[in-house]
Amino acid sequence: MADTDGSELAEPDRGLVLVSNRGPVEHMLDSEGRRVTRRGAGGLVTALSDLAGLTDAVWVCNAITAEDRAIAREHEHGAVRIDDGERRYRVRLVDHDPAEYQRFYSIIANPMLWFVQHYLWDLSNVPDITANELEAFDKGYAPVNERLADAVAEEVARSGGAARVMLHDYHLYLVPALVRDRCPDAFLHHFIHIPWPQPDAWRVLPARLRDPMLRGLLANDVVAFHTERYARNFLLTCQELLDLPVSFRDLSVRVGSHTLAARWYPISIDAAALEAEAASEGVAEAHDRLLNMRREYLILRVDRTDLSKNILRGFKAFRQLLRHHPELTGRVTFLALLQPSRQDVDEYIEYLEKIRRLVADINLEHGNADWQPIDLRIEDSFPQTVAAYKLFDVLVVNPVFDGMNLVAKEGMLINEHDGVLVLSEHAGVHAELGAFSISVHPFDIEAQADALWQGLTMEADERRARREACVEVIRSNDIRRWLQEQLNDMAALEAEPDPTAAPTPDEGRDRVGT
Ligand code: G6P
Repeated sequence: MADTDGSELAEPDRGLVLVSNRGPVEHMLDSEGRRVTRRGAGGLVTALSDLAGLTDAVWVCNAITAEDRAIAREHEHGAVRIDDGERRYRVRLVDHDPAEYQRFYSIIANPMLWFVQHYLWDLSNVPDITANELEAFDKGYAPVNERLADAVAEEVARSGGAARVMLHDYHLYLVPALVRDRCPDAFLHHFIHIPWPQPDAWRVLPARLRDPMLRGLLANDVVAFHTERYARNFLLTCQELLDLPVSFRDLSVRVGSHTLAARWYPISIDAAALEAEAASEGVAEAHDRLLNMRREYLILRVDRTDLSKNILRGFKAFRQLLRHHPELTGRVTFLALLQPSRQDVDEYIEYLEKIRRLVADINLEHGNADWQPIDLRIEDSFPQTVAAYKLFDVLVVNPVFDGMNLVAKEGMLINEHDGVLVLSEHAGVHAELGAFSISVHPFDIEAQADALWQGLTMEADERRARREACVEVIRSNDIRRWLQEQLNDMAALEAEPDPTAAPTPDEGRDRVGT
């Protein structure tokens, strides 16, 4: 990866089209019927907002709310300028039949693909691939991808045909091949923000579903991930499931006469913007409220209520901690700030219910009239989250598997208590911060209980040294550098002639075994 100081983002010299399921803002009506905007959810949106706000990129995304769809129709499906209060964007909202969108989002993207890529299926029971799932692919995932591809192809043509297209995530696996057919000169770059699992995980899907998605992705010039491991897993998948020649030395795969590069760029946060937020009035008020409830020790977790986040085992570990250390009674609080997620998907509804039940059980077992050990808050308040980041002694980030996990980076940057990070070895961020955290295996509840105790009792000097090391990593690779390195590498790859000649020497060797 090219070296940049990450201080500013250079304007790309070709047309730029961003593509993702969620856009920078969602539109809705307030109680008086006025149209208002709300910033789109998730780390992906935050990351791309910078690029879209600083350049003349057009951002093609799905119309998600009824008001989004109304705007798409009012503007005859062309690009519209949107102001989110901080930045202006050019956004093209793509309108779908709500039933098609529901099949695309709530059956195929989630849970089907999300669970495959996070190894979440309980294979002796689920998934059942029935007519419902096949129809969701044919009459949901496919038409939504086709309509997005139509919009992208039009935007590429408008910018002269040789634009860069940056696609994002698992919602769009069919789009690259559809765009490539119509835009042979475009440069297609697809960033996958979730883990890429080992090839056998993909065998859960029949070839009828799997192959079009993998073949769709192969039309890209670059497929990018957060870690080297995911990039290598991707190449293994191409080798084992599609019998394609790959090079683990160059991180590339040959598809006919075309070479596709697999790359990895660990995403980060906008450190300056988060620090500005931390200094805001709203955070100060939330901080005072949390300070009032704070006991001697504060353990924190911040997550969407997603099954991959391993929220239940985190609470079970805390229960073990309380059982092993009754002297902590009344002295520690586990604050869980959970944002409801994907509540139109059955598995997510059940998961949230299990969380509530387990918290009630633990609070009943260990709490008393004056003290509840777990303070569960199911709401979405960013000022409260940032205030809690300042105050924790231990931050729990214990996902089953996670593409990156930006909570770890946000929390360690903002913390003012020399807090300790308890971090799953299966989170992408472990590659960067694992050395300075207490690493845990996400299924090992006893080890997580021990890690909580170790974090709460660690010497002050050691806590400080570990946190400062984390902060240095976070500052030196912030979001601008993440974007700039991708733009630099794209420019370098565009300048290379396509090596349609003989296979590189290590291809035969790599195909035999890695
Ligand atoms: C992850 C995915 C994003 C997604 C976000 C929130 O970070 O990589 O693509 O937007 O989760 O999930 P949601 O389903 O609410 O968009």
